[in-house]
Amino acid sequence: MENYYISTMCLTIIYCMTLIDQVNSARFLGICMPFKSQLIDTQALLLGLADRGHEVYIVMPQPMLPSLPSGFFDKRIQVLLFKTRSDEFLVFETAEFQKNGIFSYFDRPTDRTFPSHKIAQLINNFRDVFTKNYTADMLKDTDFNKKLKDLKIDMVIVQNAFISFSTAYLLPIIHNIPYVSGVAFPPTESGAPSLPSIVPNFLSTYSDTMNFWQRTVNFLLFMHYQYMVTCSIPYDFHAESLEGIPKKNFHQILADSELFIVTGRHPALDFPQLTLPNTIFAGGMSAKPGKPLPKDLQTFMEGHKNGVIVVSFGSIASYLPDYVIKKMVEAFGKIKYGVIWKHTGPKPDSVTPNVKLLPWLPQNDLLAHRNTKLFISHFGLGGAFESFYHGVPVIGLPLNGDQYYNSNRAQHRGIAKVMDILYFTTEELVGNINTMIDNSSYVDKAKKLSAIYRDQPWTPQQLTTYWIEHVLKHGGTYLHSPTVLMSWYQYYLLDVIAFLLVVSIVVLTLCILCYRCCCRIFCKKKTSTKPIKMKTK
Ligand SMILES: *[C@@H]1O[C@H](CO)[C@@H](O)[C@H](O)[C@H]1NC(C)=O
Repeated sequence: MENYYISTMCLTIIYCMTLIDQVNSARFLGICMPFKSQLIDTQALLLGLADRGHEVYIVMPQPMLPSLPSGFFDKRIQVLLFKTRSDEFLVFETAEFQKNGIFSYFDRPTDRTFPSHKIAQLINNFRDVFTKNYTADMLKDTDFNKKLKDLKIDMVIVQNAFISFSTAYLLPIIHNIPYVSGVAFPPTESGAPSLPSIVPNFLSTYSDTMNFWQRTVNFLLFMHYQYMVTCSIPYDFHAESLEGIPKKNFHQILADSELFIVTGRHPALDFPQLTLPNTIFAGGMSAKPGKPLPKDLQTFMEGHKNGVIVVSFGSIASYLPDYVIKKMVEAFGKIKYGVIWKHTGPKPDSVTPNVKLLPWLPQNDLLAHRNTKLFISHFGLGGAFESFYHGVPVIGLPLNGDQYYNSNRAQHRGIAKVMDILYFTTEELVGNINTMIDNSSYVDKAKKLSAIYRDQPWTPQQLTTYWIEHVLKHGGTYLHSPTVLMSWYQYYLLDVIAFLLVVSIVVLTLCILCYRCCCRIFCKKKTSTKPIKMKTK
């Protein structure tokens, strides 16, 4: 009996201790551009922290994006709103804007070629909206900033902000909160060299084995990118908000991140590259085991004995031109598989009965279904990692940005085929669908890589959570590499090489001079002694 009491007491104490551990939670704040794909990524990261008992917050503008369904944010995430002066940032996800903006190349293919004036103009426009008015409103909203101050946030996660929304970093800087950077790929500011000789730029379609010309182009893309980052934050930005805060250039701001969480790369899928311990590769946070499907989808999946193809161009493509849709409808009419297609807008003519159109898909759950044979996608990061996780081969029709890189690395691994959204034909699409399903090499490789991806000590979410908690406890400074503060000639040891070269030249010159001197003296002696000797003889 006594034993029983003692063990109960022990258990109670242990239980209380775990409670204390949970109560001892921290407060995290996420900030990213207010677009669906960005928010999904940031939400996945924050939920990993919420699972550990931390309080998580996210910064959102008022007005919010109209395309966000109600209940988009998990209940565990608390939304902190700030007022924006206008809704100019809302236009970016509308079909009308996309038709005339990022997707204008559907009507004018030259808009897609790099470096296109049109694309540069769009990027500048986009960046201006976020780094100027949007940030200014965020920093000036006194209610919002007071709330933030009262909350005593422990750590800010700045997600994918470093080209078009670099000023997001001013929020943690002004509030004097340490921050972690969520990035699509490791920036040079992490301290590890991003070698253009082996790491293909995210705008290129190369692999890690490049010939001379590819390396040349890759190097130029790399330099162009470095330049974009350099000029992406004005030094005197919102001077009044930054009063009393030491000026730093953007490279330094980025380098001061406690940690870099790379949400767009994973060693199981990507080309190997050099990294440092401050960089955590955590691609695919939204990929997870599938949940049961809604009744109608389940029936559809089971009803197509040959298998089903899932088609989605994500939230980015609110606009696809009619001629592209027509080709897809025709192709889907010629195959023996079922098709579930995420499709908004008017229903196209002559859709065959094997095709189910839906405005929204439980994409991860569909890809997890054993009857899913193939994924047709623009290859955004979310879809890329979800199909990869579930071992489903992909036909990629990249539309812009990093989707070219995402589809290309998968093609390089033999689990995808890339097609050109502008010029593909119905026959080509039908042919690729049939080959990729009939030839088991694609699905075999996809399953094998998926097994590697899952065979890790931690999920990307757990890994991220662990490291964020770690730097919160111990600080991330000990992980920082001094390379960031070095100038390029120090980094490449050019000053040392130059010094050694000069020393060698000086020593060599001295040697030569010495030799000549000796020679002259010796020879003079010789010439002057010889005749004497002659005379004495
Ligand atoms: C299947 O595809 C692989 C990779 O593209 C190719 O090497 C192989 O020859 C194909 N097999 C058949 C039977 O066509």
